[in-house]
This record gives sequence, structure tokens and C-alpha cells, in this order.
Amino acid sequence: MRKPINLKEKKVSLRIAILYGGPSSEAAVSERSAQAVKKGLETLHPDIITIRLEKNFLAQLSDFEPDVIFPALHGPPGEDGTLQGFLEILGYPYVGSSVKSSAIAMDKIVAKQVFRKAGLPLAKQIVVARDTKISDSVQKILTELGSDVVVKPSTQGSALGVTLIEKTDEIQPALEKAFGFDSRILVEERINGREITVGIIETDYGVKPFPVIEIITPRSSWYDYEHRYTKGLSNHRMPADIAPDLYRNIQDCAIEAHISLGCRDLSRADFLLDGNKYYLLETNTLPGMTETSLYPEGAEGFGLPFPELLDHLVRRAAKRLSALSPA
Ligand SMILES: Nc1ncnc2c1ncn2[C@@H]1O[C@H](COP(=O)(O)OP(=O)(O)O)[C@@H](O)[C@H]1O
Ligand SMILES: [Mg+2]
Repeated sequence: MRKPINLKEKKVSLRIAILYGGPSSEAAVSERSAQAVKKGLETLHPDIITIRLEKNFLAQLSDFEPDVIFPALHGPPGEDGTLQGFLEILGYPYVGSSVKSSAIAMDKIVAKQVFRKAGLPLAKQIVVARDTKISDSVQKILTELGSDVVVKPSTQGSALGVTLIEKTDEIQPALEKAFGFDSRILVEERINGREITVGIIETDYGVKPFPVIEIITPRSSWYDYEHRYTKGLSNHRMPADIAPDLYRNIQDCAIEAHISLGCRDLSRADFLLDGNKYYLLETNTLPGMTETSLYPEGAEGFGLPFPELLDHLVRRAAKRLSALSPA
């Protein structure tokens, strides 16, 4: 049985293993997050390694004997509860949400069911399954939502497999593309709105929101993979220029999204804002952690510089002793 870390002595440094990569479509982003997390933590915690998710990763992990694990993983597998389940079995404490919450949050169709029950504002949608004849699905989309829609795989991230439909004849290829990622597809009404995001952090004094960030991409573009990860293709405005009441409502909604999914430690909720109406798109349980990512930027605005943010997260996780301990 693993021994609890005595965190009472404030300066104690932890042995930290950062996991990254693997077969996820977002492995390249994950590698960048892992490098940034290592850099951010290594002054306070010099016993730190990055381990790529590959066949021998378990041997590397047991050789190193970490006190705590930082999963710098985005998308499935890794952000979706699979890795968390593995770590639960091994008894390693890890940063972030449990198996169940990770799995629910990763599946946008399921997460939206939870959000709907919680009364959170969502874009209208239908779900399309692979075993339905594709022409019937196209017809259903046109009848129920019209042609101004967005097609997205249920369980991806970084806008992979997402298509913003311009013309009716683009629907079928968009479905086929999304089915390349997933057997169930979410088709939503297209919201023409501002792209905003809110980081959430759990602290000893409650679940707190970071400042709202607006993401601005050039006219006639959207926040696709290229605009996310190419320097200079998107700008962030923090705090977003939004009327104070609306601003607070969006932050409250991000907190409710975090709580309704049962998330732990951290999350980041994405929204679209059309005039005064906002729509919750999703909650990310392991948001990007590169130094230019939105979550660390929000933390900075909240008053937590990147190294302090990371230190807070690893200490919080280490206190759980093993993943099987209560939060
Ligand atoms: N209903 C929608 N209307 C308009 N644009 C959308 C809609 N849903 C998603 N998008 C666009 O697609 C991007 C990715 O969608 P999101 O649901 O956040 O999935 P992920 O970030 O996990 O790929 C959003 O950041 C937004 O630019
Ligand atoms: Mg998103």
C-alpha cells in the first residue's frame, strides 16, 4: 500500500510523472502540454519525468515510483477515463477528474444530457448514428435543424472532425468525416457568436472561475485546429468585454457545468455568445497546458502564475493519497 505524502511540511517536493502522447489525435498538443508542465514544475519538484504512452510505459512508471501523476493528455484515449481507470487500479493519485466524470465529459452527447438536466443553455441538436442510412440522416437534419448546422464527433477535441456547414450538399461529407472519429455524431444548430471560454479551479475555499476569455479569429474563419495551434492565428482577450451580469452568469454556468459532471481539480468550459445569449458547448477535463494555452492564461488572470497553478494541482492530487481515496 502506498504511504500518504506529508504535505504539512509546505516545501516538500513530489516525484511527478507527466504522461503524454499515445494514440490520441491530439498527441502532438499533448506533448507540448507535457513539456510546458515539466518546465513549470521542475523548479519546485526536480524529481520529474515525462513518459510517453506507449507499450512500455507501465515499466517506466513503476521504475520511477511517482508520488503523483499529471496526465497531460487531450482527447481519447487519456482524457476519456481510460487512463484514469488504469491509474485507479494501480493506486496512483493523479491530477484531474475521476474515471466516470472524464468519460462523461469526453462524450459531448452524454455530457449535454447532464447539462440539459441541470438547466444549462445549449444549442439545439440531433444525434446521428452510423447504422442509420446516411441519406435519411441528412433528411432528418434538414427537417429538424435546417442546413445551418455544425457536425461534430461526440468524443473528440481540438475541433477535430468538426465541420461548420455552409451548404446543404456539405452535410453528407461532413457526416462521413465525423464518422471517421466516432460512431455517434452530434449535429447542432449553428450559433453565430463570439467564442469564449472559462477555466475552473477547485480550491480549499470552493470551486472558482477564472476570468472569461474571448478568442478572436480573423473574419470568415473559425476556431478550428489550425487557428488553435498556429501562432498569431488567434488572439485572446481577457477579461472578455461582456456586460458584468452576463459575465458572471457565464462564469456561474461554467461552475455548474463542472459540478454537474462531477469534475475534479480543474476544467475549462467552452461557450458561444450571440448577443446576450450564451450556449455551453462542452467542458474539457484536461485543458491544454502549453504556456500559451487558454487555461494557464485564465489562471494567470485569476492570480495564479503557471508554476503556482501546477503546484496547486499536483499537491491537491497527492493529498488524495491514492486515486481510490475520496476527493
Ligand atoms: N453549435 C455551434 N455553432 C457554431 N460553431 C460551433 C458550434 N459547436 C462548435 N462550434 C465550433 O467548433 C469548435 C469546436 O467545438 P467544441 O464543441 O468546443 O468541441 P472541441 O473543442 O472538443 O473540438 C468550437 O470552438 C466552435 O468554434
Ligand atoms: Mg472546445
